[in-house]
Amino acid sequence: MSRVCLLLAFVLNTSVGVLTVEAFSRQDFPTGFVFGAGTSANQVEGAANEDGRTPSIWDSSFAPSGGITPIPPDQYYKYKEDVQLMADTGIDAYRFSISWSRLIPNGRGPVNPKGLQYYNNLINELISHGIQPHVTLHHNDLPLALEDEYGGWVNHRIVKDFMAYADVCFREFGDRVLYWSTVNEANMFSTGGYDMGAMAPFRCSPPFGIKNCSRGNSSTEPYMVAHNILLAHASTAKLYRLKYQNKQHGLIGFIIFTYAIERVTESKEEDFVIQRVNDFNFGWLLHPLVFGDYPVIMKRNAGSRIPTFTNYQSELVKGSFDFIGILHYSYSNVKDNPDSLTMQLRDFYADMAATVNYHMTKEPLPLLPIAPWGLRRVLEYIKEVYGNPPIYIYENGQGLTLNSDSALDDIPRIDYLREHIGALLEALRNGSNTRGYFVWSFIDLLELFRKPNKFSFGLYHVDLDDPDLKRYPKKSALWYSNFLKGGNITALDVVPKLSSV
Ligand SMILES: *[C@@H]1O[C@H](CO)[C@@H](O)[C@H](O)[C@H]1NC(C)=O
Ligand SMILES: *[C@@H]1O[C@H](CO)[C@@H](O)[C@H](O)[C@H]1NC(C)=O
Ligand SMILES: *[C@@H]1O[C@H](CO)[C@@H](O)[C@H](O)[C@H]1NC(C)=O
Ligand SMILES: *[C@@H]1O[C@H](CO)[C@@H](O)[C@H](O)[C@H]1NC(C)=O
Repeated sequence: MSRVCLLLAFVLNTSVGVLTVEAFSRQDFPTGFVFGAGTSANQVEGAANEDGRTPSIWDSSFAPSGGITPIPPDQYYKYKEDVQLMADTGIDAYRFSISWSRLIPNGRGPVNPKGLQYYNNLINELISHGIQPHVTLHHNDLPLALEDEYGGWVNHRIVKDFMAYADVCFREFGDRVLYWSTVNEANMFSTGGYDMGAMAPFRCSPPFGIKNCSRGNSSTEPYMVAHNILLAHASTAKLYRLKYQNKQHGLIGFIIFTYAIERVTESKEEDFVIQRVNDFNFGWLLHPLVFGDYPVIMKRNAGSRIPTFTNYQSELVKGSFDFIGILHYSYSNVKDNPDSLTMQLRDFYADMAATVNYHMTKEPLPLLPIAPWGLRRVLEYIKEVYGNPPIYIYENGQGLTLNSDSALDDIPRIDYLREHIGALLEALRNGSNTRGYFVWSFIDLLELFRKPNKFSFGLYHVDLDDPDLKRYPKKSALWYSNFLKGGNITALDVVPKLSSV
């Protein structure tokens, strides 16, 4: 079979098991390893305009359009029911995010008592069911007030406001929350939101971007934003370490979006492209966090458009994390594109001098190819290049079109999860310092990039026709539960009956 056919077969043949550890169970994982599932505030809570919450930059992404009004699963009202489902499923940990504009409606200033009450309730409910809270402070949802006031993450003023917000969270919740992440997928947020204009806050400039943005500068802003994120993160980590960590004994992390790169030839040229793309994707954030500066290739190609760390900032950023959170879904093929460096006006991708083809399949097939080697490779890469830091896999999961007749029958999701958990086990056996794995997502929620409520990653289905939004376990929830409760997993494992949860 030719290379191209192999590649196509790989991308299209999504349901063939490729598990290399033949069978496994939870007992094969180290003691203390946590299995969980995750969501984010904007996608799961609902109650967007209630009890004092003000909009975030993400809210407009879920505005009604084309005759569809997105229906969130209303976890704000149904957290007790959801935590009960988590306990029934047997997850050790729940990853969720705090909505900054619910807790501090104008981004800075007084705390909203109803927001405070909600997160206290949720956290207490989790703790009383023995479930560890893992909290993300910024899951792509800056308060719109700060975006409007001074441009949000583009402006250095964000550092102080972010620290003040984090301080409130540590003070109010840190006696019970031990796992804090500052900023979600900082690399994707910076390029998606400020270069491609594909996600909030939808900034870009011609000729870059997937649409005509009304504001932004694709040449400079992604770099400024990532820089401010690193400084906000590092200042916050310092604050936590000085003021809280001795008393509260929690950990502070930083989250990046990852993909592995599939090698197509064995050439030296390809080595160089892959290294460059890895430096732009991982190194942009991990290199400063581990070594105190951006990768040399980024500084060379972006020139004066990438900000410089002062000595003080470099020391502040270096080592400012206890763990790295990663999001992982699929892999890419990359192609050298040296010509882009001759362009006068360049963006992040032109500076990267490569075209990146991120693999997703088309509906009605599952969204993502099953390529567990990708997760394996990402974990190896972080181990080898960045000194094997503790890792939490905070997102991994399979997207499927939601068809009301087959909403619960999500076998391709089971295939995806089984293969990736198997790959994770292999990585652990080869020395990876991964400490936890979280399925995205616990429940069907408002997904980006597809029509809301037509497409989902959830283990639990939400009946949108029911005014009570009743939840139902999909086969994947039952499969995960069986694994969490000690069942053996093989490529042929039998999905338990619906009545068992
Ligand atoms: C942007 O606007 C120009 C001029 O109006 C138009 O030709 C182009 O197709 C638009 N591009 C996109 C991606 O909408
Ligand atoms: C973006 O910034 C670059 C570098 O400062 C500048 O040359 C370019 O004109 C700016 N583009 C826009 C659209 O403002
Ligand atoms: C296992 O780890 C070793 C040492 O870090 C590394 O050299 C090797 O490539 C890893 N094996 C695989 C299959 O990734
Ligand atoms: C799982 O497999 C192991 C090894 O084959 C076996 O000893 C154990 O009894 C199995 N457990 C269950 C719950 O089937």
